[in-house]
Amino acid sequence: VKPENNCIVIFGASGDLTHRKLIPAFYHLFANGLLSEEFAILGVSRTSFSDEEFQQKMKASLMANEKVDEATLDAFCQRLHYQAINTSDVDDYAKLKQRVDEIESIYHTQGNTTFYLATPPSLYSVIPQNLAAHGLNDESHGWKRLIVEKPFGYDLATAEQLDKDLHAYFQEHQIYRIDHYLGKETVQNLLVFRFANGMFEPLWNRNFIDYVEITAAEFLGVEERGGYYDGAGAVRDMFQNHLLQVLAMVGMEPPAAINADSMRDEVMKVFQSLQPLSNDDLQNNLVLGQYTESDVRGDHLVGYREEPGVAEDSRTETYVGLKMFIDNWRWNGVPFYVRTGKRLPTRVTEVVIHFKKTPHPVFGANAPENKLIIRIQPDEGILMSFGLKQPGAGFEAKEVSMDFHYESLEETHMLTAYERLLLDSMKGDATLFARTDAVKACWKFVEPILQYKQNPEHLYGYAAGTWGPKEADELLSRDKREWRFPC
Ligand code: BG6
Repeated sequence: VKPENNCIVIFGASGDLTHRKLIPAFYHLFANGLLSEEFAILGVSRTSFSDEEFQQKMKASLMANEKVDEATLDAFCQRLHYQAINTSDVDDYAKLKQRVDEIESIYHTQGNTTFYLATPPSLYSVIPQNLAAHGLNDESHGWKRLIVEKPFGYDLATAEQLDKDLHAYFQEHQIYRIDHYLGKETVQNLLVFRFANGMFEPLWNRNFIDYVEITAAEFLGVEERGGYYDGAGAVRDMFQNHLLQVLAMVGMEPPAAINADSMRDEVMKVFQSLQPLSNDDLQNNLVLGQYTESDVRGDHLVGYREEPGVAEDSRTETYVGLKMFIDNWRWNGVPFYVRTGKRLPTRVTEVVIHFKKTPHPVFGANAPENKLIIRIQPDEGILMSFGLKQPGAGFEAKEVSMDFHYESLEETHMLTAYERLLLDSMKGDATLFARTDAVKACWKFVEPILQYKQNPEHLYGYAAGTWGPKEADELLSRDKREWRFPC
């Protein structure tokens, strides 16, 4: 089912996110025939451009970075429009209203409008207020939606404030909070894998699972984003949102149905069951690290403190590893070891489910473990490892694996995270968007880490290009377990 005719207004249209992620996503949706018959994009920012200039700019960026078909690209670009306004000046929104009305008469959008805030978070409160002043939040004529990008606040208090500000002018059903991890095909597949197959779910609990690892590793450092990152760190940038959402997909109960309420109710129950972090956890189960300079495969990588925009004496973490628990019937006592970091050896996100050993080791104590590796990116797929008889004399068990790679599904077009989420928002499906209560619950859980990291007793250095501080290995070796080191 295609979305209804609609208009997307992108605030921050001259920024990075717009030309790197949003416009390419809309282009591919258009090229694959997934958008409504009539739709238009209205770019908004302070810089003045004519429609033609904006179209040329977006066209050049698409041609440089995406695989495009020229005729399709031209047809797409004709639907791009532009309006310069000062987003902080309420009177300027009259111009915006006029353009939205014009677009409605040309494209028959029937008032259906999405406002995408691809702006710095400092504008998240003022834009909704100014939209409301011109009735642009009013749903009596077509739907009005607001898409917000993370960060949703800086901590629990600011998240609550942001929530109040948004809810003063838009209702929860109008607000779509993007966590792009939820848009990833492989993250969604966690649900299908678990709940569409009779053979895994009966084992998916404390009786059969020994521990769970969740890793989101990046080879890249902070790049050009030192200024932002130094104030955020890995806990705010990756852990509080993306990793906890993935953890919820691994840990949740089957929803009654795949819709926004049922799904997000179950996600919320996981967040409500997270065992609060005690001082003891902060001392013993949390490892914060920061990368230091190193030579990797012939390249010299600078340390975090030498990155542009980063304070010379910065105590910001670029690595976080945590052992945590979900206190509920299913997971009681099963540790979840979660880690993320920049400048690790490679880019990989995966979940590893380690099953318990057999009750009696008839084939020797070294019999292989059963592991299920859910590879979120890259080389998306699922790998199951188990023991098989080593051919020959005797009864030695040997570890073998069964592999599925998404790339073997040649006939399918995998939507990127932004394509999927933009399409869902246009269809009014909020299933894969973060709900306000969940966002707040995640902030509440990480609050003790935020307090601790203001002045961390331990911030361990790790050489760029390695798997983080050795203390993170000890987190598991203490429990006679180990991380998987994916290549
Ligand atoms: C973003 C973070 O939300 O996610 C970045 O701000 C990080 O620092 C990125 O690099 C990772 O996303 P992905 O999709 O490449 O895993």
